[in-house]
Order: sequence, then C-alpha cells, then structure tokens
Amino acid sequence: MMFNMPTLPYAHNALEPVISQATIDFHYGKHLQTYVNNLNNLVPGTAFEGKTLEEIVATAPDGPVFNNAGQVLNHTFYFLQFAPSPARHEPEGPLADAIRRDFGSFDNFKKEFTAAATSLFGSGWAWLSADKDGKLHITKEANGSNPLRAGLTPLLTFDVWEHAYYLDYQNRRADHLQALWSIIDWPTVEERFK
Ligand SMILES: [Fe+2]
Repeated sequence: MMFNMPTLPYAHNALEPVISQATIDFHYGKHLQTYVNNLNNLVPGTAFEGKTLEEIVATAPDGPVFNNAGQVLNHTFYFLQFAPSPARHEPEGPLADAIRRDFGSFDNFKKEFTAAATSLFGSGWAWLSADKDGKLHITKEANGSNPLRAGLTPLLTFDVWEHAYYLDYQNRRADHLQALWSIIDWPTVEERFK
C-alpha cells in the first residue's frame, strides 16, 4: 500500500455535536477509505508510481488519478485540523498577523471564508492558502481540487461535499459551516503556515 489513511487524533465521537460519530464513521471510514483504496489501485504501473501525494495532486491531468489523489490529500488536511475542545478559537502569531493584514480582522476573515464555502456551487472545498510571498488567499475548489494546483500552500479547508454534513445538518450547509469554527485546532493550521 503506497497511500495510507491519516490517523485521527481524536475518537470518532469526540467532535460531537458539531460532527457526529455517524458522520465520521461514513466520511472518514467509508468515503476517505474508498479514495485511498482507489488511488492504491490506480497508481501502480503509471508515471505516478513513487511520487508523493502532493506531487500527484500538483501535476496529474484531470481524471481518476487526480480526483482520488486530491480527495485523499484534501481529507487528510480536513480531518487533521480538528480538536474536540480547542484551547483557543483564533490563531496566534504570524498567521494571526497575516489574517489581520489581508482580511482586516479575524472576524472578517471568518465571514469571507464562510461565505465562500456557503456559496460554492455543487461539491468542492473552500480553502485558505498562502502564496510564495506569504499573502493569504481564499479559494473555492471544485470536486477534488486543491490550491497546490495553483502553486499555493494549503492551510485550512472546509469540505462542502454533502457527505460532510448531510447526516447531521441535511440541507443546512451554512449551519454546519458556522459550527466548524468551534473545533478548529489553530496550532495545526499555524504549523502549516511556517
Ligand atoms: Fe469529504
């Protein structure tokens, strides 16, 4: 097996009530496992054998390898950025400074990020990422894409595929996204900005 499941740093029921155990069971245990299995079946014998996940996502043409690699990478970022009871609910240090500089305030950043995720049409991901100068960008990525494709460094993501929230929130995507802010593990996001 070349590609592996990320190990969750919390129990499947630990993010309740924001994300239920049933959603983690399906989203992590079934959906992500399927993307990992697909990628491990697709890559052997292709030019992507021996490449890292990031290299594949950055360079693969649109198609099954890219779609599954993107979803493995995106979900790895997603699931590892949460904590059941974060010690604080906003970033500190250089990331906090960059957010203030590029979005005016942390509250305004949250507003703009939530609006991007809420308004994304269909399935995809909202991302906060940094360019090579450290400037921050909010982007909407369709399906399994990732800001790496545009040379950006991914920092934080909200999954707006319906499988991320439908069991808990049905059609209330905006309510789900609002609740996610309370379980973001900011030290993990700050580490990605270094
Ligand atoms: Fe997902």
